[in-house]
Amino acid sequence: MDNRAVGIFDSGLGGLTAMKALRELLPEENIIYFGDTGRLPYGAKTREQLRRMAVQDLDLIASHGVKAVIVACGTLSSNAAEILDAYPVPAFGVLKAGVAGMTKIPGTGPLGVIATEASIRSGAFAAALRAACPGREIRAVACPDFVPLIESGHGSGDPAVREAVARYCAPLKGADAVLLGCTHYGIIGEAIAAYLGEKTALVSAAYCGAAVAAQHLIVNGLTGGRGEERFFVSGDPAAFTRAASTFLGRPVARAAEGLPCMEI
Ligand code: DGL
Repeated sequence: MDNRAVGIFDSGLGGLTAMKALRELLPEENIIYFGDTGRLPYGAKTREQLRRMAVQDLDLIASHGVKAVIVACGTLSSNAAEILDAYPVPAFGVLKAGVAGMTKIPGTGPLGVIATEASIRSGAFAAALRAACPGREIRAVACPDFVPLIESGHGSGDPAVREAVARYCAPLKGADAVLLGCTHYGIIGEAIAAYLGEKTALVSAAYCGAAVAAQHLIVNGLTGGRGEERFFVSGDPAAFTRAASTFLGRPVARAAEGLPCMEI
C-alpha cells in the first residue's frame, strides 16, 4: 500500500487518454497530471529540444513525490527512451508498451503506426515494431495536423477531422492493426476507426502504457490512494479545465493550476 500519487504528463490533452485508462484499471490512485500546453505541439520540436524537455518534465512531476510516472507522450517516448529508462523514479513510456500490444495482433498482414512528425522521424516506432513483429510489413505515418485540431476542440464528428483522417490514413487501409502512437489520437479514435473500417484494429499506446504502469504498481505492492487528482498546465488553465472535463465526461474536482512555461 502506497498512497503517493502517480505522475502523468504530456504536451496537453493527450495524456488524459492514459489517465482515463489508469482510472479504469486502478480507480483509487491519486494522480498528478502535467499538461505542457504552453510548449505544445511537441511533435514539431527537434530531438535535442525533446530530450531536454523530457528531463524538465520528469523533474517537474517528480518534485511532487510521485511513486511512478507515465510519460503519456509518444514523442518523448520515441526521442528520449534512454532518459526515461535511466530516471530514478520508475517512468513508463508509451512506445514499448504500445509495441508490445501490437505483438498480440494475430495474422500476417501489414501493421501500421500513426504518430507525430518527431516520433515518426525518430524511426523508433517502426524499428521497434519490425523487431517485435518480424515478417510483417510496417507502415509508419506522421499526422501533424491531428494535435492542433484536437487541442482546438475538434472531435471525431468534425468535418475537418474526418478530412485530415482520410488524408493521412489512406496508406493504412487494409492493415490488420494500427498503433495510435500519439496519445492525443485516442480522442479522435472514432473518426480513425470509422475511416479504416472494422477489419483494422486500433491499439492505443496510451492505454498500453497505463496498463504497464498499473501492473508495476500491483506487482510491487504500490497501489493505493483516494482517487484524488491535481492538474497543472503551462498554458491556459481555464481552457484545460474545460477540455479535460469534456474528455473525461465529468467535471474535474479541482480546476487546473497554472505553472510558468519552462525555457527549452
Ligand atoms: N501527445 C503527444 C504524443 O503522444 C504529443 C503531441 C504533440 O504535442 O505534438 O506524441
